[in-house]
Amino acid sequence: MSHIIAPSLLAADFTRLQQELQMFEESEAQWLHLDVMDGVFVPNISFGANIISQLRPLSKKIFDVHLMIENPSHYIPSFAKSGADIISFHAEATNHVHRTIYQIKDLGLKAGVALNPHTPISLIENVLEDVDLVVLMSVNPGFGGQKFIYNTLQKIKVLQEIKNERNLTFDIEIDGGVGLQNAEKILQAGATVLVAGSSVFKSETPKETIQRLKQVGLGNLNF
Ligand code: DX5
Ligand code: ZN
Repeated sequence: MSHIIAPSLLAADFTRLQQELQMFEESEAQWLHLDVMDGVFVPNISFGANIISQLRPLSKKIFDVHLMIENPSHYIPSFAKSGADIISFHAEATNHVHRTIYQIKDLGLKAGVALNPHTPISLIENVLEDVDLVVLMSVNPGFGGQKFIYNTLQKIKVLQEIKNERNLTFDIEIDGGVGLQNAEKILQAGATVLVAGSSVFKSETPKETIQRLKQVGLGNLNF
């Protein structure tokens, strides 16, 4: 199966959100990645559920909400209401990872767990049967436009091995510093979803960039 491209709205031009959403809608990207930051879990503040619910009518595609916030379980109901299809929270942000996964699933959504670059896969080994998505951060969360941390490739391989051994089907999403220069290596390691912020929205031809990211690994790269 071909991989999923999830442009991250964080890198979009917020004075032209409607046009950015239209570009996304017309593109081959399947998910819109929405980065929620609280200024506590990460050293930056982005946007919340109110913005997401205003964007919801502009797209029929999957809204992939990435919560970089403390106390995620307190806010999950409002993000579910805002029209999220997938909600991911950080394993480092709660003592109750299993409970939080089922809080999301009980609201009828897909549940993801995210890990910071330094956090080992072993932290979530006992919930891999329960998740729909694992988000591996390939930059320190908080900002777009950072450099890909190459050690992430090793983490993807570790996760992919466990996934194969146990015959699991969760998606592996790589978030941060992803673009045409490293997409192939990331996919070869086992990723199934590529988040692309700056590489898409800062590109002069975002739709074409998305198309190229989708073609990576299909053997018909034409650039
Ligand atoms: C970082 C966010 C990422 C970010 C990716 O905290 O979680 O989703 O927007 O942006 P780029 O692709 O520019 O690294
Ligand atoms: Zn993200």
